[in-house]
Amino acid sequence: MKKRQTQARVPRCKKCGAPAVIYMRQHRLALCETHFQEWFVNYTQRTIEKYHMFGPEDRVLVAVSGGKDSLALWDVLTQLGYRADGLYIGLGIDEGTQYSQRSLEAVRGFMAERPGLRLYVVDMKEAYGETIPELARRVRRGRGKPCSVCGLSKRHIMNELALREGFDVLVTGHNLDDEAAVLFQNTLRWQTGYLARQSPVLEATHPGLVRKAKPFCRFYEREVAAYAIVRGIEYQYDECPFSVGATTIYYKELLNQLERHSPGSKFQFYTQFLKAKKKGLITFHEPEGEVVLRPCRICGQPTTAGEICAFCRMWVRPDMDLEEAKRSVPSLTFRVETSESEEG
Ligand code: AMP
Ligand code: FES
Ligand code: ZN
Ligand code: ZN
Repeated sequence: MKKRQTQARVPRCKKCGAPAVIYMRQHRLALCETHFQEWFVNYTQRTIEKYHMFGPEDRVLVAVSGGKDSLALWDVLTQLGYRADGLYIGLGIDEGTQYSQRSLEAVRGFMAERPGLRLYVVDMKEAYGETIPELARRVRRGRGKPCSVCGLSKRHIMNELALREGFDVLVTGHNLDDEAAVLFQNTLRWQTGYLARQSPVLEATHPGLVRKAKPFCRFYEREVAAYAIVRGIEYQYDECPFSVGATTIYYKELLNQLERHSPGSKFQFYTQFLKAKKKGLITFHEPEGEVVLRPCRICGQPTTAGEICAFCRMWVRPDMDLEEAKRSVPSLTFRVETSESEEG
């Protein structure tokens, strides 16, 4: 009698009955290694379709940081047969840990095992003359931390490269933990503008914007980590050294506490928000007249910040005329690396 109870508690794969490697409470689903991989890839495809992210003909640019999420995403999109190239931005963050260098090595290691991939590499120091920490120090933004300059630069570069190289969509590795933390933070402050825009897919609402999508937005971080491990992906484990003490980490921890008490709550919080928004049960409006998007006079990307966007302004002084300002902003340069195609 006792023995039978113990046996009943061993989670078994729902598909084949083998010992399960993961149990996903929100789906009431236990799966073995093989069926988990299969499910993970299919569920990504279902998310892509559910939110109309992109189709088989689209050219997809995957922003890869070397971390588990973005490498797992590139792996899945390739398996699904999408035309997906990578983009790595070398931020020049070393701070004694060689963080950026090791991130690029993780991306290259990933590619070495997957012939035929193409990677765009933008190196901040080469392209703009300064690493992210150097740039942040010079423009004195972010109270000693380069994170805001970094976020702004990454968004700008990803968008510019995707448009210039003719990609239909830019995808990032954001997972459910990331999205739920942002949603939580914005809800606590009733940031209606941000809540209106938070979505698994952002349409290109302006000629200077590329469409953006987050195909992993319904996966818990632990599920992505499990997938990366069973696929043998050697990713960069370390977080950026500047992320210590970041507010999103604090919100993630609060949500993890909630999740421990009430498993599945993170998933419900995020997906029910999207559902209610889609059905029109909750609507948010941008404050009228406040948000006016105009193309930046230097780079053409839309900005709410006036004539010149926040990225270009990092190189422009107030006394410059437009021509001088245009000359001062370095233009984007990049190189392309490919993993050798299989011989024969
Ligand atoms: P993070 O903001 O670091 O949580 O990263 C979110 C997503 O942005 C990642 O999953 C990647 O898709 C992308 N990303 C972050 N850092 C880089 C980078 N240095 N180069 C290219 N993509 C990046
Ligand atoms: Fe940009 Fe840390 S400051 S990744
Ligand atoms: Zn199985
Ligand atoms: Zn600009």
